[in-house]
Amino acid sequence: MAVIDVVNLSKAFGPKVVLSNVNLQVQEGESLVVLGGSGTGKTVLLRNIMGLLTPDSGHVAVEGKIIAQLPREELFQVRQSIGMCFQMAALFDSMTVFENVAFGLRRHRKMREDEIRARVEECLSMVGMKGTDQLKPAELSGGMKRRVGFARAIALKPKILLFDEPTTGLDPVMTDVIGRIILDLKHELGVTSITITHDLKSAFEIADRIALIFRGECIACEKPADFKVNPHPVIQQFLRGDADGPFLQDPPPPKRSRQEAHS
Ligand SMILES: Nc1ncnc2c1ncn2[C@@H]1O[C@H](COP(=O)(O)OP(=O)(O)OP(=O)(O)O)[C@@H](O)[C@H]1O
Ligand SMILES: [Mg+2]
Repeated sequence: MAVIDVVNLSKAFGPKVVLSNVNLQVQEGESLVVLGGSGTGKTVLLRNIMGLLTPDSGHVAVEGKIIAQLPREELFQVRQSIGMCFQMAALFDSMTVFENVAFGLRRHRKMREDEIRARVEECLSMVGMKGTDQLKPAELSGGMKRRVGFARAIALKPKILLFDEPTTGLDPVMTDVIGRIILDLKHELGVTSITITHDLKSAFEIADRIALIFRGECIACEKPADFKVNPHPVIQQFLRGDADGPFLQDPPPPKRSRQEAHS
């Protein structure tokens, strides 16, 4: 049984169809990376998995439980087994970095204060944020906030992790650090994860399989080596990062040569 099972998932907002019949299975211990253009529904997909949005049709099951059908209490229980790293960090502004990372530990675990302190410090130092525990989110840069959000998501050692662009805005070295932590969690704790990213280098490093969402549909979900050579024009354009091709709905202005651009 897949740990996360997305079955014929469709979701629209008014007339705008965002996801249409998406099917994705993530097996235990597997790391799935989801790619796709901006605004294609990647965050909407994660929100359906968390039960923060309800599908129009189809369903999402986590460990065999259909999320949209769960009573409140059971939904909260399932959410406790999921660590989510939100795209915008979503830290509590009035709390310190320490309290933000400790938040889930205090709520869900019966841990002693010294155990909580040790775990928070461990998570902060993993993401290079040692010594920032007494700062408030307003005192942090965008990338620092994102790293605190990441530390908070992994603090509980959840079995399932959902990362929404965990490395956007981070420098290449810190991006690699985050990628390594995701791999360590997989190998040491057998974590099942979905990572949304625009960073192709880390996608290929951390993925067991890569999915690409295009115009509401999942057009591929396969091993990185197969994905790389998939001849689908949208996949190849995405991998090249080229403005020309079927990826964009509206054609871009013609490309100018370097010389033309400077004249
Ligand atoms: N609650 C909502 N109400 C109305 N429209 C929404 C809502 N949430 C998302 N959308 C729309 O759904 C589409 C997909 O949004 P989503 O946030 O999933 O994109 P994304 O793939 O995560 O993009 P990005 O890479 O920029 O984060 C967008 O057009 C967005 O405007
Ligand atoms: Mg998003």
